[in-house]
Amino acid sequence: MSNQAWGGRFTDETDPRVARFTESISFDHKLFEQDVAASIAHARMLAQVGLITDAECAQIVQGLTEIRAEIAAGVFPFDVAREDIHMHIEAALIERLGDVGRKLHTARSRNDQVATDLRLWVREAIDGIDARIQGLQRAWLEFAARHREVILPGYTHLQRAQPVLAAHYALAYVEKLERDRGRLADCRRRVNVLPLGAAALAGTSLPIDREQVACALGFDAVAANSLDASSDRDFALEAVFACAVVALHLAGWAEEWVLWSTQEFGFLSLPDAVCTGSSIMPQKKNPDVCELIRGKSARVVADLTHLLVLVKGLPLAYNRDLQEDKRPVFDACETVASCLELAAVVVAGARLNAAAIAAGLDRGFLDATTLMEQLIGRGIPQRTAHELVGKLVARAESRGVTLAELTEDELRAVHPELGPWVRSTLGVPRAVAAFRSFGSTAPAEVDRQLAAWTERLTPASAPSPPPATVP
Ligand code: ARG
Repeated sequence: MSNQAWGGRFTDETDPRVARFTESISFDHKLFEQDVAASIAHARMLAQVGLITDAECAQIVQGLTEIRAEIAAGVFPFDVAREDIHMHIEAALIERLGDVGRKLHTARSRNDQVATDLRLWVREAIDGIDARIQGLQRAWLEFAARHREVILPGYTHLQRAQPVLAAHYALAYVEKLERDRGRLADCRRRVNVLPLGAAALAGTSLPIDREQVACALGFDAVAANSLDASSDRDFALEAVFACAVVALHLAGWAEEWVLWSTQEFGFLSLPDAVCTGSSIMPQKKNPDVCELIRGKSARVVADLTHLLVLVKGLPLAYNRDLQEDKRPVFDACETVASCLELAAVVVAGARLNAAAIAAGLDRGFLDATTLMEQLIGRGIPQRTAHELVGKLVARAESRGVTLAELTEDELRAVHPELGPWVRSTLGVPRAVAAFRSFGSTAPAEVDRQLAAWTERLTPASAPSPPPATVP
């Protein structure tokens, strides 16, 4: 028997190898909820405009609801001969309802159908990822509050640079994550446009009401050009790009914490619950979750590359290549969702080794830049001040002491302006206290930002709903 969805035109059967090669049911079965929801909205619209009767619509809605329940319960039979999720659901409906089932595909093509299903899936995935980003941001705020007194060495080029409050460090990730939320929200606006009604590529001569379908499915707008609507995958590219940036943010942080949890750094204790041991070395406690968050970013970047190359050079309108869009979209969203979830667990359970960090703050001349700025405040040109402090650093380094430990003679030998006052500005806590500028690690500034973020990210009086799941 040739495929019932297009059999009229064919006399020979599909080669079973072709059926196996062209199937997508093995991965697009994930779209069953979205496919049923879109079909129900479509059927109701068909009834509304008189293309089917209300009674037929009721039967279709009932049938689709039962099919959805069967798939959810894992009792629905899948078969590669039926190719994809759309044909499985429609064929099951026809089996149940006969000719009434054969009316559902009126004014619709799988081209606009799959675009609609994928948009619905991506929209839900974005909401789930957004909820998880907020969860991680809250974990960072809590981390900041828990380590409010801790001063960290700040790094550039992974070399000790200037001191920063641990809270300032935590808020840096809150900011990055907020930009991730912004990218997802922006992309969601373009995701939330209805392609259904574009039909195969040119629209339909039948009197459909696309506004009604958009409204029923929660879309903000109806796509205005059928050729564009049935072929557009920009929304998927954008969503996966936004996921890739999240993944890279997480990978950078994970790398940092892999380093920080080494004996060499000793900054951080990770909870046992997120570490694993070694089967041969009894003493080991490995930061595997951080390593895998770092490692899984490769998948998401690969997903983005996959999609970019997939759509390159495709002529209008639908091309079967587009069937290959689903796996990278699913994978990117699911991978990022799981990384975010685990990142929140790691951040929530991590403890900075405050004593060890404090004991090491004298190393690396973290106060040198502040001293230079003090000299600038006393009227010395920046270039000169830089050079003077550079000389002090060289001197201190050669003697193995801190800047504060230089003698008065050593200070004065570099410049007459360098008197005993210098000592009262040196030391890491004083250096931190000296910061002033907006966005700096100045304690008052960090307190202000922490309070603002806490206010912003604390759910209003009503308890927050459980985080949405990624479908
Ligand atoms: N499974 C297909 C996909 O994911 C559905 C659309 C098929 N359209 C077609 N004209 N063969 O892209």
